[in-house]
Amino acid sequence: MWLIVMKEILVESSVDKIVIPDNLKVGLMVAKQREQCKNGGCSFDYYGLGFGQSPFHIPPPLSKALGKSANQGHYSDAEGISELRKAISGFNKRHFGLDVEPERIVIGPGTKDLIHTLFGIIKGGVIIPSPSWIGYRPQIYLLDKHFHTFYLKPEFNYKIQPDDLDEFISNLSSAQHTLILNNPHNPTGNVYSKEELEKIAEVCRKHNILVLADEIYALDTFEIEKFTSMGLVYPEGTFITNGISKDRSAGGYRLGSCILPTTSSKKLKADFKKVAATIYTNVSTPTQFAAIKAYEPNDEIDEYIEITRQIHRMMGRYLSNEWNKVDGIKATRPDGAFYFFVDFNDLSSAMKKKGVMNSNQLGESLLSCPHHLATVTGDANMLDPDNFGARIAFVDYDGKATFDNYKKNPPKSASEEVEFIKLNAPRMVKSTDALRGWVDFIKQT
Ligand SMILES: Cc1ncc(COP(=O)(O)O)c(C=O)c1O
Repeated sequence: MWLIVMKEILVESSVDKIVIPDNLKVGLMVAKQREQCKNGGCSFDYYGLGFGQSPFHIPPPLSKALGKSANQGHYSDAEGISELRKAISGFNKRHFGLDVEPERIVIGPGTKDLIHTLFGIIKGGVIIPSPSWIGYRPQIYLLDKHFHTFYLKPEFNYKIQPDDLDEFISNLSSAQHTLILNNPHNPTGNVYSKEELEKIAEVCRKHNILVLADEIYALDTFEIEKFTSMGLVYPEGTFITNGISKDRSAGGYRLGSCILPTTSSKKLKADFKKVAATIYTNVSTPTQFAAIKAYEPNDEIDEYIEITRQIHRMMGRYLSNEWNKVDGIKATRPDGAFYFFVDFNDLSSAMKKKGVMNSNQLGESLLSCPHHLATVTGDANMLDPDNFGARIAFVDYDGKATFDNYKKNPPKSASEEVEFIKLNAPRMVKSTDALRGWVDFIKQT
């Protein structure tokens, strides 16, 4: 009998450059820690502050529409069905005051895929602010593109400062570059004012910089009147990505859109379709038909977005405020999305004495027994190893029950809001005690 020995299957070196995405990594870390705890006799559960998923149910008009569109089994145009692109155009006008012809809209399987497609099409390097969402850098590695890290400063609350950006870009080559502007910002919860965006746009115009405006959390801006789309202030150079994953809680539907800049040539639009057709053919046609409901005017969906926005505001402001009171901890005050960012650097020498040597190990330490705090740290926020920071997602509660309770009896004062949070999100409330316990442990000599 012959024994066939396979040679090791080789993979591209670009794959070795990427790490497992944060959501999977945190899930695996929690599973491992849970097992260790079980073996050690500890049955206490986890503070789920890592995974950034909306805790709410799918808005009923959307889930019903998906059932009805099950028979739409044909392939569609790569850029998406025209009824949906028209609905997205109307949605952008209603919510953001943007005039977008449907021809400038491309539908994709979530904005993550659209961002990847965009990186593949647009020539030149990418400027990624740090800290940032984990998604961008691995895609750039896979595509073998250049990127430049632009460090956001805590003293400016991690917001892009136009003068710093101007100086930074002046030191780059004159080749085309694309700046990532994620607003509201994952991981800090920052929201840029119109004036701040105008100043950034001025710098981009001066240097001919394109902008990838990742506005996936736009409608999760707590005071929605404070949100301005970059597409309004820099229409000629901005690609806007948005979708139904966050404010309509339909991440698993995998549907988003990319709006191309007003100056996009016929060729660029055709190129986008060509690449979309090559990579994913089209987004699932039943999902596209259902999504029309998510974008057309609909009172129930508007109410849904407003209620979930208010709950995010209460939860985020409460928790960041409580965490900020803990000695050695500095938390950002979120204005949108469902995250805030925590700076642990004041504890760095105490942490090092306890063997927590870098920002990745910070996550492991917070998760360890008996602290049980699942967060996203280190590489997953594009942080340097010596920068001890963590992203906190304030979504660890039963979204449907909380939504129903809010609808029945919305809190009417600051004290009622605190009561509401204690009732609906007890684990998140208790996470502050766990954090305090971890800080005490780190400081113990
Ligand atoms: C900042 C940011 N951009 C994009 C995405 C991807 O969203 P989608 O579900 O549309 O791919 C996420 C998801 O976590 C995100 O946080």
